[in-house]
Amino acid sequence: MSDSPAPLSQAPNTPRRTFLVRIIQGVHATIGATLAFILGNAVLSPSLAKRKSLWLSAADTAALNDGEPVAVTLRVARQDGATEVVDRRVVFLVKNGDQVRALDSTCTHLGCRTRYNAEARNIECPCHGGIYDLQGNVVAGPPPHPLAELPTRMDGSRVMVQV
Ligand code: FES
Repeated sequence: MSDSPAPLSQAPNTPRRTFLVRIIQGVHATIGATLAFILGNAVLSPSLAKRKSLWLSAADTAALNDGEPVAVTLRVARQDGATEVVDRRVVFLVKNGDQVRALDSTCTHLGCRTRYNAEARNIECPCHGGIYDLQGNVVAGPPPHPLAELPTRMDGSRVMVQV
């Protein structure tokens, strides 16, 4: 007969051992649930959070000339944790008759701010030579897409832009 203790798997199931196993399983389950909650929240929250869309007053139509883009800076306030951050977003308002389009001035290549060239009558990116026409379409250079267009509507004589 040997004096060595029986392996754990063959050890008698005493109430004390059962109690300790349950405690350890409980701790594991608590740690697992906590990690799942933290990771799930980090992954799902941003995608599930509803982004509020805002209509901002951009300009009066009296200040716009047909076919002549006007750069307007919109101030967009957003919550970043406990602080409020104000982003500045520049859009080109392009009036054609009674229709006004809003083009985001951010170049679709690498995100530089574009500018209107009144002599050449196009919108140019100073970073890598991207050129857009007045409808925001790419004419030359590396930009892969037209300038993004933002929804607009009229409120009396005011042009409202949705950001
Ligand atoms: S960022 Fe505008 S062309 Fe490269």
